[in-house]
Amino acid sequence: MDRIRLVGGNELRGEIPISGAKNAALPLMIASLLTKDPLVLENVPRLADVNQLEKILENHGVDIAVHGRKAPTLEGQRMTLQAAEIVDTTAPYELVSTMRASFWVIGPLLARAHEARVSLPGGCAIGTRPVDLFLAGLKELGAEIEIDEGYVVARAPKGGLRGARVVFPKVTVGATHVLLMAATLAKGTTVLENAAMEPEISDVAECLVKMGAKISGIGTRTLTIEGVDELHGATHAVVADRIETGTYAMAAAMTGGDVLLKHARAEHLQAALDTLALAGVEISSEADGIRVRRNGNGIQAVHAETQPFPGFPTDLQAQFMALMTMANGTSQIRETIFENRYMHVAELARFGADIKVDGQVATVTGVPQLKGAQVMATDLRASVSLVIAGLAARGETVVNRIYHLDRGFERLEDKLSAVGAEIERVTG
Ligand code: EPU
Repeated sequence: MDRIRLVGGNELRGEIPISGAKNAALPLMIASLLTKDPLVLENVPRLADVNQLEKILENHGVDIAVHGRKAPTLEGQRMTLQAAEIVDTTAPYELVSTMRASFWVIGPLLARAHEARVSLPGGCAIGTRPVDLFLAGLKELGAEIEIDEGYVVARAPKGGLRGARVVFPKVTVGATHVLLMAATLAKGTTVLENAAMEPEISDVAECLVKMGAKISGIGTRTLTIEGVDELHGATHAVVADRIETGTYAMAAAMTGGDVLLKHARAEHLQAALDTLALAGVEISSEADGIRVRRNGNGIQAVHAETQPFPGFPTDLQAQFMALMTMANGTSQIRETIFENRYMHVAELARFGADIKVDGQVATVTGVPQLKGAQVMATDLRASVSLVIAGLAARGETVVNRIYHLDRGFERLEDKLSAVGAEIERVTG
């Protein structure tokens, strides 16, 4: 099994190109199910989750051609997806269980093929993550839903889904994506209230508009969708990954140095950047990116609480905790989105970090120096927090089980070594 070996202590200096966002690329690929025409996606990151979703979509009848899959350049892939015909409306357990976002095919399948049989995604390392809000929303659009042997079996009413008002009792990214996609082909008007407004939702909504969907309120808590009879093809470039951006910003803050995060958009992670600035990191926006600098001065402890966008993202909580392990003082971090997203705590302790968890709150007391260790990746964002800690620790760190990292970080070790980190992948 592959591992990452790194030796801490080097400052990071130079440019890191930010890839297309995993969490936008996945729903954009799924949106190809909504039309018989080709959907061309540019800037698609090379990630294990993207490859896995290709398999799932091919099973439904999507033809996929990828340009630049193995390109040595740091440009993203160009992917053409065409669902001329939906040949299978079942998303089987073997395919769905490995990636939760594949459950989201339920929206376009119901909207276009009027039926779907999709395996329940099951539990996952960061919490129970139920699908009740997806099902409640789809029922509002007229779908009949039953659970049969671990599958959600959904049928649209005669003539297809019908527009409706859906009020989400809690902000959910996945259910917002699904209801948004489903509503584009429903009869009449759908209003989604208390919708998620993460930049990835807006990116998908903008692509749907290019495909002929009628959507207003993009970027707000209320999305209004006027159903149309059919959607057509389009070309769309995936938005830059704000979580990758924040991850490298925290890495540079941790090691010191001066890094330009190319293509990054500050407005997509302002809460995290503001928190870093409070901690003493210099952040400045440039023409095509964000510059992150820390020269000499230490990191101050600051508090953070995860919230739906535009708040501090849960997907940066583990990385921020890694940074706080070396801060001057004590920081409190509150995780409000997922109930079990502190698995990195035990691993960070192996570096000598001082962290106590009580329910939702982690109290991190900074230590003067971390020491390299053997650690184990548990989920995607937790894994990268261990890499960040290792970059600043004294001596050697080995991160085991890095297949989690490959799910969501494109060429992590190439990007970090290009700015001065001593990091390599050890295969086998
Ligand atoms: N929830 C329910 N019922 C539902 C749906 C959600 O109770 O039917 C709960 C969840 O259990 C959670 C909260 O609502 O407590 C928010 O979940 P959300 O639906 O927003 O999360 P998601 O769509 O499953 C996406 C990202 C996650 C990211 C969260 C929050 C993708 C592919 N995944 O997940 O990203 O943490 O939004 O921003 O977009 C990651 O990339 O590492 C990752 C986990």
